[in-house]
Amino acid sequence: MIQISKEEICHLLPQFDLVQDAALKDVALSIWQEACLKADWDDLKAIPFGPGYDAVRAGFLHHVAAVTQYSYVLAKAYNDLESEPLNVDYCVVGALLHDVCKIVEYSAAGGRTAWGNHVSHAIYGVALCEKYGVPLEITHIVASHTSKLSMPNKSPEAIIVAKADGVAAGIVHLFEDNK
Ligand SMILES: [Fe+2]
Repeated sequence: MIQISKEEICHLLPQFDLVQDAALKDVALSIWQEACLKADWDDLKAIPFGPGYDAVRAGFLHHVAAVTQYSYVLAKAYNDLESEPLNVDYCVVGALLHDVCKIVEYSAAGGRTAWGNHVSHAIYGVALCEKYGVPLEITHIVASHTSKLSMPNKSPEAIIVAKADGVAAGIVHLFEDNK
């Protein structure tokens, strides 16, 4: 179990400060806090990008930071170029929440928890999005970021987060998988 304040989460993930809507930011932080309470870890910094990865070289927090930062930049560039703007906050919050499920899917003992072994990736994040009443557009981003579920991306915001996730994960695979 990880008991952590919203301020401490923002310190670990300053990308939360990219969210313009204060109420939405607060809800996203509440979701992170609830996932942390269900974790079998005692430190967010100890969680790796994936089972078997080194949390220092390829950490979960760094992955979320990268996906959120890339999503923010892409969303801003999209709005500079396109006539119909997308919702930058949806991209940022969707990125911050896309892998929040990993906190309960991965085990401090190594490998996956019972939840991670029996429930598909992203479903815990989707459940928390529903519980806390985030806009459906953000729940969709979480649900459609992974090929583990069959939901295609149905918004520019969802495409951006899924592709940003692919970039960040691809770089981890490039540098870590062939060691
Ligand atoms: Fe991810």
